[in-house]
Amino acid sequence: MNRITIAIDGYSSCGKSTLAKQLAKKLGYSYIDSGAMYRAVALWCLENNAIKNGVPDNEKIISNLENIKIEFRFHPEIQSSQTYLNGYNVEKEIRGMAVSEIVSKISSIKEVRQKMVALQRQFGEDKGVVMDGRDIGSVVFPNAELKLFMTADPTIRAKRRYDELQAKGTEVSMEEIAENLRLRDYEDTTRKENPLIQAADAVVLDNSNLTPEQQFDTAWNLVEQKVSAK
Ligand code: DC
Repeated sequence: MNRITIAIDGYSSCGKSTLAKQLAKKLGYSYIDSGAMYRAVALWCLENNAIKNGVPDNEKIISNLENIKIEFRFHPEIQSSQTYLNGYNVEKEIRGMAVSEIVSKISSIKEVRQKMVALQRQFGEDKGVVMDGRDIGSVVFPNAELKLFMTADPTIRAKRRYDELQAKGTEVSMEEIAENLRLRDYEDTTRKENPLIQAADAVVLDNSNLTPEQQFDTAWNLVEQKVSAK
């Protein structure tokens, strides 16, 4: 079967990663969560006093970029890939609120983006990759064979994120989540460096009223068309 590149972009908590993982599994492709990479950089900043009163110390961050090593390692026992920062599994830490609150600011630093985009291109150089994020179809893989742009109603997104965090035992209110999503949407779409935009050739997938199965079937039809057209 021809191997293609699948770019999935969209707002946060729109179900991008769920779909990306399902597609990668069915295709036998690798799945790369590009947001996890920015989250890992944000965690490094929190752990290394590179954020003062909520403001990133850009100089310190940029001069330390070569000391921030990010990898994904596949764990067969849980059938999922985990994010490693400088050799440590940080999958749990990068999903917490402390990281969520600062990550948009970190991801808007030009030099951070340059480094992450270069790494993402390396991860995808052999094709056979599903990558989700904000600028995958527009910047990282502008020639991706399939580009999906996912959206959903903001209230539905907040509820999904709430359920996800509750399941992990994180204490957080719906109001905090809704506010965090609103702020992240604003920052993601208005930042100067590679803002979230819908690539001209992306297919929009609004999953507000779709079950995960319906969403998968819609995406899978598109994948089959692209694979057979190659
Ligand atoms: O998808 P996520 O919520 O885990 O992403 C975390 C943050 O990283 C989010 O605020 C936007 C940013 N991000 C980005 O700027 N570019 C990407 N390709 C992926 C994520």
